Amino acid sequence: MSKIQVGKPVKGNQLIGRENEIVDISELLLNGQSVVIIAPRRFGKTSLILEVLNRIKQQGFYTAYLDLFLTPDLETLSRKITEEILNNRKLGKVFKKIKGDIAEMFRNIELKQTIESFEFILKYNSQNPDSWELLSDSIDFINNYPEKYDKQIICAFDEFGDIKKFNGDRIAKMIRSKIQVQDSATYIFSGSYESVMDTLFVKQNSPFFRFARIINLGYVEKDEFKKYISNVFSGNHISIKDILIDEILDFTKGHPYYTQLIVQQILMNNSLGNFKEGFILKDILQQLLNIENNFLEKQWEDVGKSREIVQTLLILIKHRKSLYSHIDTKKINLGRALKKLSGSGIIYSENNIYHLSDPLLELWIKEKIINI
Ligand SMILES: Nc1ncnc2c1ncn2[C@@H]1O[C@H](COP(=O)(O)OP(=O)(O)OP(=O)(O)O)[C@@H](O)[C@H]1O
Ligand SMILES: [Mg+2]
Repeated sequence: MSKIQVGKPVKGNQLIGRENEIVDISELLLNGQSVVIIAPRRFGKTSLILEVLNRIKQQGFYTAYLDLFLTPDLETLSRKITEEILNNRKLGKVFKKIKGDIAEMFRNIELKQTIESFEFILKYNSQNPDSWELLSDSIDFINNYPEKYDKQIICAFDEFGDIKKFNGDRIAKMIRSKIQVQDSATYIFSGSYESVMDTLFVKQNSPFFRFARIINLGYVEKDEFKKYISNVFSGNHISIKDILIDEILDFTKGHPYYTQLIVQQILMNNSLGNFKEGFILKDILQQLLNIENNFLEKQWEDVGKSREIVQTLLILIKHRKSLYSHIDTKKINLGRALKKLSGSGIIYSENNIYHLSDPLLELWIKEKIINI
C-alpha cells in the first residue's frame, strides 16, 4: 500500500509532474543563470527546488538550501549559510555542534584547515558578533568555499521575500552587490507573494532587477496526476470510476497540495470502511473544508482588511465572466483591486478570466460568506 505524504515537501518518485520545469531550471542553473520561482502558497516550490538541487548534486556540484522563513535573525541566517556550505564537505554537522567553541573547532583537523583559509568562522565565537558583518562574510563564503575546491555551487534561498523582515532593502542590496560578481555560485530564489517578489526582482529599480530569470510556477499537469491517482487507487484496491478522477482534477486544476489531500482523504475513508459506492467528491470536499478551516480563515482574514478587495473578490466568484457589469465602478476601483489581488497571489488570470489560485478557498468563501 502506498502512503500519501501531505504537508512535507515531496521527493523522488513522490514528486508528480514538473519534469519540464526541472529540466528547464537545471539547464539555466548549469549555465550560470540564476532563477527566481514565484508561486502562491503550497504550489510545490520547495519540493521543486529540493529535487533540482538533488539532481544537480548528483552531477558533482556543490549545493545549499536556505529557508528564510525559518531564520529569525541575521546571525541565525549567517550561521545556517555557513553550515550549509560546509556541509558539501561534510563539515556542517561539526560546525553546528560546536557552535563557536574555538578549542573544539581546532580539534577537527579539516575544520581547522578550513578556518585557516576562512577566518571569519572564528567570529561566531565572539561574545557579541556583528551580525551584519557575519552575514556579509557568509555570502562571500558561498562563492569562495567551492572556488577553493574548483567546484561550482547552486545555492537556493527559499521564501526569499522574507528578507523584508530584516531591514530587507539594505540586505538585498548588499547580497546583490556581492553575488553579481561571484563566478562559482548560481542562485535559486523563491517566494509566494508576488507583490513582494516584484519589488525584489521584477520592478526596474528593484535590487535584483534582471539578475534572475523569472519563473512563474503553475499547477501540475493534470495528465500526470491522473496516471498517479489511478495507480494509487488500484494499488490500494479501490475501484474508482475515471469520472471521479476527472472531477477531482476539475476541482483542483492540478493544485498539488489539494490534489494530494483529496487522494489521502479518500484512502483514509476507505480504510475506515466509509468509502462506499456512490461516495462522491462533494463529501470529501466537506471533510477538506473542516481540515483546512484554520488555514482558510487565516487566508480570508488577510484578504478581508479592505472593503474594496472583499467586494471585488465576492463579485469575481459570483460573476466571473461578467465582472464589469456587476461592479459599481463609482465605488470600487476595479483595476486597482484586481492588481492587488493578483499581486498577493490570491487570484490569477487565464485568457482574461480571473480565478482564485486556491480552489478550496473559493469553495470556502462560497459556503461561508456568500452562502451558495
Ligand atoms: N509535484 C508534486 N507532486 C506531488 N505532490 C506535490 C507536488 N508539489 C507539491 N505537492 C504537495 O503539496 C505540498 C506542498 O508542497 P511544497 O511544500 O513543496 O510547496 P510550497 O509551494 O513550498 O509550499 P509553502 O508555500 O507552504 O512553502 C506537499 O506536501 C505535497 O503534498
Ligand atoms: Mg515552501
